[in-house]
Amino acid sequence: MTDGLRRPVTALTGAGVSAESGVPTFRGEEGLWRRHRADELATPTAFRRDPLLVWEWYDWRRRLIDQCLPNPAHHTLASMEETLSPFTLITQNVDGLHQAAGSVNVLELHGSIWRVRCTACSHVSEDYRVPLPDLPPHCPECGELLRPDVVWFGESLPADVLAAAWEAARRCRTMLVIGTSATVQPAASLPLAALRGGGTLLELNPAATPLSRHAHTVIRAPAAQALPNWWEAHRFG
Ligand code: APR
Repeated sequence: MTDGLRRPVTALTGAGVSAESGVPTFRGEEGLWRRHRADELATPTAFRRDPLLVWEWYDWRRRLIDQCLPNPAHHTLASMEETLSPFTLITQNVDGLHQAAGSVNVLELHGSIWRVRCTACSHVSEDYRVPLPDLPPHCPECGELLRPDVVWFGESLPADVLAAAWEAARRCRTMLVIGTSATVQPAASLPLAALRGGGTLLELNPAATPLSRHAHTVIRAPAAQALPNWWEAHRFG
C-alpha cells in the first residue's frame, strides 16, 4: 500500500494476533485442534453430553490466557483506534487481549471466554476468576448451568455484532486482515465484502491463506513486529 492509508480502516483479527502473547492458535502446528477434538469440546452437543469436560477445557484455556499479555500488535491496533476515525476492530478471538491493550470498541464475533451465560435464564456476566471455584458453574440468579459466552461450531454469531461487522467491512477503504487462516465463516467472507465495496486488502500472516490471492498487500511475517513497523510507515498517510 504505497499511496497512503485510505480511510475508513477496518481490521479483522484471528488467533495469530495473539500467538506471540502465548495464546495457542487453533490450526497451527501447536494449535488447539491438533491436541483436542473441536467436536468434543466446542459444540452445543458436546456441552449437553458432558458439560464438566467442556468446562474443564475452558477453565484450562482461561488459566492459560490469564498468564498472557497483549503484544505490540494488540497495542498497535489500540493506537489505530485512537488515531484513525472511523476505525473498526473486528476479532474472532475470545481472549480479551485487544481490550487489555486498550482497544475499546471491539466487535467480538465469537464472544468472550471471560463472559458466562446461563443456559436457562440467559443471564450474562463477566467472570475473570481463575481457576473457577466450581465446575461446571451455576447461575447466581436461577441456579441452572452456566456456559461460556462464546460461539460454538454450528451456532449463530450474535446478530448485532455480525451486522456491525458487515457494515464496517462494506464501508471501509482499507481492511487489515491479521493472523487468521480465513477458513471459518462468516468471518472469512468479511474481507471479500470489503473488496466488493471497493476496499483494498492487506493480509498480515506468516503463512498463505485462501485470502492471499485477493490481497493487494501481503506481509508474510509475525504480527507483533510487522504490524507496528507497518503502522509507523503509514500512520501519517
Ligand atoms: N502473527 C500473525 N499471524 C500468525 C502468527 C503470528 N505470530 N502465528 C500464526 N499466525 C497465523 C497462522 O498462519 C494462521 O493463518 O494465524 C492464523 C491462525 O489460524 P487459526 O488457528 O485457524 O485461527 P483463526 O483463523 O482465528 O480461527 C478462526 O476458528 O476454531 C475457530 O472459533 C475459532 O475463532 C476461531 C476460528
